[in-house]
Amino acid sequence: MRSHLLNDTTAEHYRRSVTEGVERVAAKLATTERPFTGVTADALSPRVDGIDLDRPLHDTTAALDELEDVYLRDAVYFHHPRYLAHLNCPVVIPALLGEAVLSAVNSSLDTWDQSAGGTLIERKLIDWTAGRIGLGPAADGVFTSGGTQSNLQALLLAREEAKADDLARLRVLASEVSHFSVQKSAKLLGLGPDAVVAVPVDHDKRLRTVALARELERCAEAGLVPMAVVATAGTTDFGSIDPLPEIAELCGRYGAWMHVDAAYGCGLLASLKYRDRLDGIERADSVTVDYHKSFFQPVSSSAVLVRDAATLRHATYHAEYLNPRRMVRERIPNQVDKSLQTTRRFDALKLWMTLRVMGADGIGQLFDEVCDLAAEGWSLLAADPRFDVVVEPSLSTLVFRYVPAAVTDPAEIDRANLHARKALFASGDAVVAGTKVAGRHYLKFTLLNPETTTSDIAAVLDLIAGHAEQYLGESLDRAS
Ligand SMILES: Cc1ncc(COP(=O)(O)O)c(C=O)c1O
Repeated sequence: MRSHLLNDTTAEHYRRSVTEGVERVAAKLATTERPFTGVTADALSPRVDGIDLDRPLHDTTAALDELEDVYLRDAVYFHHPRYLAHLNCPVVIPALLGEAVLSAVNSSLDTWDQSAGGTLIERKLIDWTAGRIGLGPAADGVFTSGGTQSNLQALLLAREEAKADDLARLRVLASEVSHFSVQKSAKLLGLGPDAVVAVPVDHDKRLRTVALARELERCAEAGLVPMAVVATAGTTDFGSIDPLPEIAELCGRYGAWMHVDAAYGCGLLASLKYRDRLDGIERADSVTVDYHKSFFQPVSSSAVLVRDAATLRHATYHAEYLNPRRMVRERIPNQVDKSLQTTRRFDALKLWMTLRVMGADGIGQLFDEVCDLAAEGWSLLAADPRFDVVVEPSLSTLVFRYVPAAVTDPAEIDRANLHARKALFASGDAVVAGTKVAGRHYLKFTLLNPETTTSDIAAVLDLIAGHAEQYLGESLDRAS
């Protein structure tokens, strides 16, 4: 069994084993014709259930063959140009190289004595990101597992900075289309059930600042504490960017912590063309960035940044075995003092390799391409009478619905769109997402793959229309 431990005597086994896995994946990528096979959970479950985990195969090739059967064959492949659904990007190769290195060396980014240079690399990337945001000289931050954790940590700091003795009086104001992790965070932070105030959005799905001002005033009159305003720079459903300068102004006036959830919009930090869409982000107290959404990084790769490093102390606890206080005096750097996690992956290495091999402009160029693609897709949809499209994209999301001229019942149109999404998924020809707009079912493309073309978009729209028409035709038959 010791031959499976990675060490000086097994380096060759490691090389062969990992290379075999890499070759499988490379072959898969080269031959995958559709983003998905359409497999159902019912069809796949027996194959997974049939494996006896107490009877190992004792053979890498056999284990990879089995993996082909239970995973690789039917996985959803984000690199495929017709995967258009959620906020999953295709990944860049330098990041995969980083991933291979970080998992083999297996540093843990909590303390210096578990990571050494890893700590410095992460710190440099945090400084780099804070510099791109413009947070100023006192900024700091830490890598996290994702946007959900970044938002949670930011709101924890905001709660502590609010210094309220009664948690029930705290309020978090966020637009009605902000990410649900804001509500989850409020719950985890022990705030009351009414803590999150949903602020209405305008036609472009951007937070209405007049409504925000009204809510902040209402808080003040009721003796409530607006502990934070969450501005979203790239909403999950629409990619809309809240008016950051105006929100910063209001936060200043009412003494609220300004958190910018740029989990999606952070790609603009590298943009060569559209960086100005994030203007105002530099006034935030904290910012969430998900490199695994718009920097073409593999999951997980995210960070929370703060304007004032001192606020990170709210996450600091000392343990004699790990990070005793004397280490601060001895100036031994660690990241665990800033993190909600203890043992933590060296995810920063993926971004490091990306910046060192491709450079930030390379990432920015790819993100600009998907933003341009979305603008072309919007023109296509706006000119197509079969579809209703909402919100001209600020990033790379398109939300639309099939609206046949002959059908007026909105509920029937809802069903046709739901059916089209399901049928498309089952066919595996493309994967698209869905959401609701004003109570009605819409479909969504989240475009994060520069390999997707306008022809792909046009072809998938035709497929959607075809499935919806078929549904409506069959529904007419059922009715007659
Ligand atoms: C705006 C926004 N914030 C936060 C999150 C949560 O990020 P994660 O899934 O990395 O936890 C998402 C996820 O889609 C998001 O779109």
